[in-house]
Amino acid sequence: MKYINININNFIATIRINRPEALNAMNKVVVAELKGAIEECVKNEKVGVIVLTGTGEKAFVAGADIKSMQKMSGREALEFSREGQEMTMMIENSPKPVIAAINGFALGGGCEIALACDMRIASENAKFSQPEVALGIIPGWGGTQRLPRLIGKGRAIEMITAGEMIDAKEAYRIGLVNHVVPLSELTEKVNSLAKAIMKNGPAAVGAALKCIHKGFDEPLENGLDIELNAFAELFETDEQREGTTAFVEKRKPNFRS
Ligand code: CAA
Repeated sequence: MKYINININNFIATIRINRPEALNAMNKVVVAELKGAIEECVKNEKVGVIVLTGTGEKAFVAGADIKSMQKMSGREALEFSREGQEMTMMIENSPKPVIAAINGFALGGGCEIALACDMRIASENAKFSQPEVALGIIPGWGGTQRLPRLIGKGRAIEMITAGEMIDAKEAYRIGLVNHVVPLSELTEKVNSLAKAIMKNGPAAVGAALKCIHKGFDEPLENGLDIELNAFAELFETDEQREGTTAFVEKRKPNFRS
């Protein structure tokens, strides 16, 4: 892959978007490569948590590649948006938690990728914006849908129509990110969260993610039904037996032998 690096260490897969000369802006090739990387990590048994980040100290992803969009027809834009939306759905549907390690600008499509991740940890220098309207377009990789679900409709409307940049502190205040740390501590913070998740049953973690994502837009009764079935299914797994037996035997569970 030309623009994506994958590094797997202790069950943590770090996928790095690597196009620093364009602040990691994503054209069709980068989108296709990121989709491939996510698929690869989801399939790989040696991966428990996926971390998404960008190369360099300036940008996570500065958005979709504006130069490649300059002459796009409506039909081509439809395809570009569809590919980008599929990419964000792959991130959201991953049974393994995906953490965005936001190391700088997360603008436009970059903010939308972060929104599709399960958790977002930002460095102090990170900046967020949905600036598409300044280009005469709108967010096309899920921003109009995921941003209001995460931070509320009023704040999302302001971000998407005014298009102004907010810093990491403000992003934390409005619930756009889970934590803010100095850039030098970003990897450590992300890894310690990944390690905490990895101590737990992988099927249980995957089932919890599925219930939260699938139930989120459902009426409460439907969401509870999703939870009920997932809860019961886990009782047919070795993982449930190991977790509960370890508790009874006063030892640590071994979920990843
Ligand atoms: N697309 C293509 N190239 C980009 C880019 C983008 N989104 N963002 C930055 N670059 C390129 C610049 O063109 C520049 O390349 P050249 O040296 O070849 O000119 C290089 O990256 C460095 O950028 P700057 O010189 O602009 O750096 P800066 O520090 O002065 O500014 C910035 C940084 C504020 C992030 C500025 O680059 C910027 O505003 N970028 C565009 C951000 C944007 O509008 N993103 C939304 C894109 S639309 C979208 O994402 C649609 C969607 O929903 C899918």
